[in-house]
Amino acid sequence: MADKKQYTLMHKNIPVADIELDEATCAISAIGPVYEASHIPVGTPVKKGVIDRAALNDWWKGRAIPASRSGIKNALLELNLATTQKLLDKCLGLSLSDQYWIRPIHSDIQWSEINFFEHSFSEDVGNILFGRGSSSAQMSLMSPDNTSDGWLKKKWKIIDGKRCLIKGGSGATQQEPYNEVLASRIMERLSIPHVPYRLLVEDDYPYSVCEDFITPQTELISAWYIMQTMKKPNNVSVYQHYLNCCEAAGIPGIRDSLDRMMVVDYLIANEDRHQNNFGVVRNAETLEYLGAAPLFDSGTSLWFDKPTAMIGSKEKLSCKPFKNSHKEQIKLVTSFDWLDLNALQGIEEELRELVRGSLFIDEARCDALCRALKGRVDALTDIVNTQRTVYAVSDCRDDVKEDVTYSGSEKD
Ligand SMILES: Nc1ncnc2c1ncn2[C@@H]1O[C@H](COP(=O)(O)OP(=O)(O)OP(=O)(O)O)[C@@H](O)[C@H]1O
Ligand SMILES: [Mg+2]
Repeated sequence: MADKKQYTLMHKNIPVADIELDEATCAISAIGPVYEASHIPVGTPVKKGVIDRAALNDWWKGRAIPASRSGIKNALLELNLATTQKLLDKCLGLSLSDQYWIRPIHSDIQWSEINFFEHSFSEDVGNILFGRGSSSAQMSLMSPDNTSDGWLKKKWKIIDGKRCLIKGGSGATQQEPYNEVLASRIMERLSIPHVPYRLLVEDDYPYSVCEDFITPQTELISAWYIMQTMKKPNNVSVYQHYLNCCEAAGIPGIRDSLDRMMVVDYLIANEDRHQNNFGVVRNAETLEYLGAAPLFDSGTSLWFDKPTAMIGSKEKLSCKPFKNSHKEQIKLVTSFDWLDLNALQGIEEELRELVRGSLFIDEARCDALCRALKGRVDALTDIVNTQRTVYAVSDCRDDVKEDVTYSGSEKD
């Protein structure tokens, strides 16, 4: 039928299954033979060899730019497209965060010929997303921006041969890029695996720039999809469920990485560590899980959307993904033994330096942010010290108990 197109869902070089796309809705209207079940996107249920079409559709549509993306209405108008899903097949579903794509059914095109990791790509879509119009008369829609997630304005750009994600800020304070860089500096000082972000100021607007942490051999799988691999019983917490799913899949080091993530999110008062803002990395060919992804997307923090007078207040702060308050979430940390908070001495001055000259963060806001950040470090120091004291006391009690038991058994 003319309004349906046939493709093979590919995982790098491996045909996974044939699919049919409905041109009007951009949805997967039928799924043909499955060629390689082990390469079906993680978290998509397969029953008796049949892929759950609704789940695969959620995954496919989830590859598109979200409808909530800042400035998307104007961008779609300029692109003359009704929805962001219409961009998906224009780049064959290729991304810079994983290795899935779709191949027209009678084509023999190879991943090595088209992937964005090794080939340059058009910046037309990215420029339109940034409200800058397209440079070329003949617009090219072959862009990894078509498959980028998240609500902040962003675009991929090749800088000095490296694939970099440039991300803007929001609202009157445009604070997210500064936060992103500050979070990197905190994690650097604490030796926490992270994606390093640097600041870029263009036309007085701040942007964060980070390199792609995915390579042609690897891919990111968000915690959301990992959590779909098992049914969560009602009496199991989201935190425990994630650990259980990771353990069942043989993903190493997750408890330690979550400890680090919750510490960082406490320090920066992150409000949006949702299940697509952390995850794991696997080898896209062998499917071997390498471990937790380095921490990325920490910009929705430090009262980024609050007025200066509210900075430092805990009242309207939300918290994700495991508890709805930071005070409760930090209790899930299993060990602070690795944490040297002395390494954060003077971090607030680094923040002051970072926002110096910003048209968006005036002196009063900068002062409030520095004070609040120091307050978070002090509060965490108290929590860690209290826990150490509790452990020391209980260790003492254990020693006493052991002595008692020992002397008891001696008597016997
Ligand atoms: N350095 C990177 N390398 C590879 N993929 C990345 C990188 N940074 C982000 N991504 C991918 O792009 C997506 C969007 O990026 P990011 O989460 O930073 O944007 P955001 O607009 O801040 O998101 P949110 O809507 O959660 O606020 C991420 O969920 C991840 O899949
Ligand atoms: Mg995000």
